[in-house]
Amino acid sequence: MDQKGSAPWGGLPEFQNNKGETDMETVRLSNGVEMPRLGFGTYQIRDLGECEACVTEAIEAGYRMIDTAQAYYNEEAVGAALSRCGLDRKELFVVTKVNFRNFAAGRCRESVLASMEKLRVEYLDLVLLHWPFNDYYAAWRDLEALYNEGLLRAIGVSNFHPDRLVDLINYNRVTPHVNQVEAHLFCQQREARGWMEKYGVVPMAYAPLGQARRKEMYTLPQVLGPAERYGKTPAQVMLRFLLQSGFLPIPKSVHPQRIRENLEVFDFSLDSGEMDALRALDTGVAMIGNPENPVRAEAAPHWK
Ligand SMILES: NC(=O)c1ccc[n+]([C@@H]2O[C@H](COP(=O)([O-])OP(=O)(O)OC[C@H]3O[C@@H](n4cnc5c(N)ncnc54)[C@H](OP(=O)(O)O)[C@@H]3O)[C@@H](O)[C@H]2O)c1
Repeated sequence: MDQKGSAPWGGLPEFQNNKGETDMETVRLSNGVEMPRLGFGTYQIRDLGECEACVTEAIEAGYRMIDTAQAYYNEEAVGAALSRCGLDRKELFVVTKVNFRNFAAGRCRESVLASMEKLRVEYLDLVLLHWPFNDYYAAWRDLEALYNEGLLRAIGVSNFHPDRLVDLINYNRVTPHVNQVEAHLFCQQREARGWMEKYGVVPMAYAPLGQARRKEMYTLPQVLGPAERYGKTPAQVMLRFLLQSGFLPIPKSVHPQRIRENLEVFDFSLDSGEMDALRALDTGVAMIGNPENPVRAEAAPHWK
């Protein structure tokens, strides 16, 4: 498996850690690229002015990884915030996802170039195929080509269940560096994690606060106990749990105080008893990331 990019000008710059500013840790992907362990999510921030303000706030707070997608219709706003933040491009880690409507050969490539223009960047740190729908093999080969040309530092998938992930790996040259999946207390992706580990695929956690079910989680004794012991909020305990479980969470908030709160999770750790109690909350059922469900696959072409 060829994992190496070959940028014509000799490769892309290494990600620069922001040590000294936040205590943000990084993880090394299978191709050697360093990626921040926690990022800022932008799903459902469709108002472009609000999105630009939130991303600006997140960068000021210390986030260096920003997660967007073609299907969030806010890449322009993210790009405006990135270009005005005053940081060197090397300090930022920009992630976007290709809409499965753009998965035909050639069209995927064009859509990634269009995303780069909207995001006002000359390269992207990570691009993911958003869902395993439509012609994702053709789309993957477009991503591989962009990666080998040095325009993308890493490529990956999202919502790929183990069978789809392994099959994609079997019939292509570059193994996905990342799989972004739904992961929170009620959906801990244990089986999928085993397969990702086997192939060196790093798991990102979306909906890390439980999205629609978050309020239920905030009042659980298994969450409130450590929150009280460490002087943290339930959201911080839930994010810490994912970090200690090996996930890279990308919480979203439109509130400055919460944006900052969600980043302050590197100064405490949960002990093994607390981790076990939180692990026991897993139901193994996804709220959102279940593309293997035919009803979901049937509805996908009509998603707005
Ligand atoms: N790949 C995929 O298919 C996929 C799917 C879904 C999401 N994602 C990505 O993952 C990111 C995160 O997922 P998500 O946005 O769906 O859900 P989430 O991060 O689990 O939850 C977001 C919700 O939690 C609230 N919240 C945030 N911080 C809080 C805190 N400290 N205390 C209390 N409430 C808090 C937010 O409300 P306020 O905004 O009002 O603070 C928001 O309503 C997305 O933004 C997106 O980038 C990817």
